[in-house]
Amino acid sequence: MSRGSFRALGSAGALAALSLGGCSGPVNNQQGHMPAQPVAFSHAVHAGQYELDCQYCHVGAERSRHAGVPSASVCMNCHAQVKKDSPEIQKVAAAVAANAPIEWVRVHRLPDHAFFNHASHVTAGLKCQTCHGQVQEMVRVEQVEPMTMGWCLDCHRKTSTESLTAPTPSAPRAGELLALSSGTPLPEPSKSPRILRPPSDCSGCHR
Ligand code: HEC
Ligand code: HEC
Ligand code: HEC
Ligand code: HEC
Ligand code: HEC
Repeated sequence: MSRGSFRALGSAGALAALSLGGCSGPVNNQQGHMPAQPVAFSHAVHAGQYELDCQYCHVGAERSRHAGVPSASVCMNCHAQVKKDSPEIQKVAAAVAANAPIEWVRVHRLPDHAFFNHASHVTAGLKCQTCHGQVQEMVRVEQVEPMTMGWCLDCHRKTSTESLTAPTPSAPRAGELLALSSGTPLPEPSKSPRILRPPSDCSGCHR
């Protein structure tokens, strides 16, 4: 479906009409999706056993729409020394030497007509695990939540009903410091508690 046809939809009535018209309903349910990856990278080792901060590698999560996946050179911060004889690490070293990205396979992906921004959720105080499950225990990443429109709306409505407030921003963590050193400023910390108001109107998530 194109962005234009979404603007034309615009109302709950239109959604009802769509489903009455035989629309098959949500298509994004990729729950359980767990693709094989080109390098056997384990979150259970890095984020679990060695307790690396998620944002050491996913530096965009608090500052931009995409959390981002680290470049192979970030891996070599450690693997220039650690396990350099491992065939898996040699794939990483080869990617860096060839100046070619590792072709990681996307696990979570919304259709283009739905808008999602990590920064607005992470700065509202949500943990990665709320939406991605216990990643620090995963040898291979799996989509745990359905990530359908109903799933998004359930939390948005619940948050509004409970009048939750955003937490006061914490001191920068390792990942943010790393990101800060690469330039873009962090958002200004808010001075008074802010009541969270996630959108439930169509145009909030379909722009
Ligand atoms: C050492 C770097 C590193 C750390 C630390 C790390 N990750 Fe990752 N993460 C990766 C890489 C590389 C990928 C892509 C390969 C894969 O899916 O395993 C990835 C993939 C993911 C994905 C799937 C992205 C997609 O394709 O949809 C999620 C979700 C994720 N990480 C969440 C987390 C969370 C939550 C933490 C902290 C508990 C964390 N990561 C810590 C490097 C890291
Ligand atoms: C902060 C240091 C650090 C960073 C950054 C890091 N790793 Fe590791 N990695 C480790 C440690 C420590 C081990 C466990 C080594 C052991 O088992 O003795 C490990 C193990 C591995 C292994 C298993 C190797 C084997 O044969 O047993 C792979 C594969 C791997 N890392 C890939 C990656 C990739 C890909 C990245 C970048 C996305 C990355 N690592 C970033 C420290 C790091
Ligand atoms: C409110 C739910 C929610 C929270 C909280 C959340 N994510 Fe996500 N994440 C998503 C959704 C939805 C997608 C798919 C986005 C898309 O396809 O545009 C996604 C995609 C990703 C991806 C792959 C695409 C990208 O944006 O780079 C990574 C990596 C990731 N998340 C890591 C994290 C990490 C790390 C955290 C915590 C710092 C986190 N996420 C917090 C819902 C969430
Ligand atoms: C676990 C709760 C939770 C889930 C799940 C969730 N959200 Fe949110 N959402 C929030 C909160 C909290 C805010 C912040 C509201 C504020 O700052 O006032 C928010 C804000 C937003 C905003 C407005 C801010 C912006 O970035 O423009 C959009 C759009 C949005 N969410 C889309 C989504 C979509 C799409 C999904 C599903 C893929 C989703 N959300 C899933 C809790 C959630
Ligand atoms: C909180 C975010 C959010 C809001 C608000 C929202 N949607 Fe969605 N919508 C999504 C996401 C995410 C998807 C993709 C996942 C899915 O298909 O369930 C989606 C998918 C859809 C689809 C495609 C379903 C299909 O079968 O392909 C339609 C149609 C739709 N939305 C219409 C609407 C209408 C009309 C409204 C207003 C009444 C609305 N949406 C409000 C997040 C939202």
